This record gives sequence, C-alpha cells and structure tokens, in this order.
Amino acid sequence: MLLDLALYLVTPAPWRHRRLGYVRESILLTSRARRCRRAWAPHCAAARTAMLAAAADLPRRESVIVLGSGGLADVPLAELAARFRSVVLADAVHPLGARLAARRHGNVRLVTVDLVAEAVAALCGPADLTISANLLSQLPIVPLDRCEARGSAVPEGLGGQIVSAHLAALDALPGRVCLITDTDQREEDRAGRITDTLDLLHGVRLPAPFRAWEWEIAPFGEAAANRRLIHRVRAYPDWAAARRAVDRA
Ligand SMILES: C[S@@+](CC[C@H](N)C(=O)[O-])C[C@H]1O[C@@H](n2cnc3c(N)ncnc32)[C@H](O)[C@@H]1O
Repeated sequence: MLLDLALYLVTPAPWRHRRLGYVRESILLTSRARRCRRAWAPHCAAARTAMLAAAADLPRRESVIVLGSGGLADVPLAELAARFRSVVLADAVHPLGARLAARRHGNVRLVTVDLVAEAVAALCGPADLTISANLLSQLPIVPLDRCEARGSAVPEGLGGQIVSAHLAALDALPGRVCLITDTDQREEDRAGRITDTLDLLHGVRLPAPFRAWEWEIAPFGEAAANRRLIHRVRAYPDWAAARRAVDRA
C-alpha cells in the first residue's frame, strides 16, 4: 500500500493522465502483476511468443511500436530491441520498471500517449510491426470510470465505440499488426462453478484467433478469498490476415 503510494507519487506522467486516473490504474496493475507473477507467467510467455512470431518473417525490421507496453510483463523487449533498429513503447503511463528496462537499450524510445484521444499513426509514425499488447480491453476502462465518477450517465455504446475505434486505427496502419487481447472474463468459485461473466470488448466480436489461451488474472485470494478471475485471451500475429479470412468466408 505504502509502496503503491510512493510509486504513484514518483511515476512521471502528464498531469492530464494523472487527473484522468491512468497513473492510478497503472500502479494497481503493476502491483497486481508483481503479486500474481506466477499465475500470470503462462499468459505472459504465450503473449511474448505471439509477438515474436509476428516479427519472425517480416521482410523489413526497421521499426516496431508496442501499444500498451505498460510494465512490459508480456513484452519481449530485449528480443525486439535485438531484432529491430528502433523500438517505440507507447502507453499512457510508463512505470519506473519499464523506464529502467528501456534505458538498457540504445534503440528503445518511450512515447506517452492517450490512445483513446490521440491517433496511433500520427504519434508514433509508420512501423514495420505494430503490436497492440493486451491494450484493447483496457481502453474503455478510464473513460467509463470517469463517467461514473462524475455521476453522469455512460453514453450508450461508448465502450464498444472505443474498442471499434482502436481496431479501425490498427486496420489503417501500413505495416504488419499483431493484436493480443483478452476478450471476456469469468469468475469461478472453488468448486469450479461460474459465478459471473463479463464481456471485456463491449459486444465487439473478433475473427477466429491464431492462438487462444486462458489468463488467471486474479487467483483465489487476490480479488476475493473464494473467487478467482480468468480471462480468455486471443492472439493474432497477423491481424490483417485474420480480417481477410473473415472477408473471404
Ligand atoms: C493490461 S496492460 C498491458 C500489459 C502490458 N503490455 C505489460 O506487459 O505489462 C494495459 C496497458 O494499457 C494502458 N492503457 C490503458 N488505457 C490507455 C490509453 N487510453 N492510452 C494508452 N495506454 C493506455 C495502461 O496504462 C496499461 O499499461
């Protein structure tokens, strides 16, 4: 708790991102990642593998952009820095650990950006590979929380619009796009019964994934003593190819 408060105070971020709640979210996420490191390990390994698969057969490896790089738990930074001439990490908040990790590589640059409010291509420039790294489901969280905190009604369909806008931004990018995202959450009790479910993409449907797996995001004792939260994750090392496959069907 005290560590989180100290990190909240010293993590560099634009005032707007602090005021909107991105810094708070980032600190909570980073401390959960620390506590749940073991439970998250299979998910992080699968996400890293998908990102490296996306990079493997690219004809040109000048630049890669990682959207939602955050604490770099699921990002193979050293491998990307070795394979590409330039690496851009883009997030609303870059936690201290990610800043230190980036500094170890001369070709890694941080871009602080609100990916709901600002256009991906304009901020980071065109890249040979753009990775959306477990970001999509996170994008609606702060805007929806803001509406609730203000006591104003959440505009109908806002979550789905934010998700769709990110997918449209990815579709417009010139290079290869690798999309990794969680799609839905289920809550289970200790008997394995499902006690709740949540659509993390607000009704937006994705095409069949290249790979899918489960992410135990909150093991028993993390969010509640007798409940655990499991997310379903989908990986598209070549998002445009997955889109084309739907168009052909
Ligand atoms: C689940 S984390 C991704 C995990 C991260 N790839 C890692 O390896 O630790 C989601 C990330 O999305 C970022 N994020 C959420 N909303 C954002 C926004 N509007 N603009 C930019 N980044 C955002 C958060 O700051 C967080 O770092």
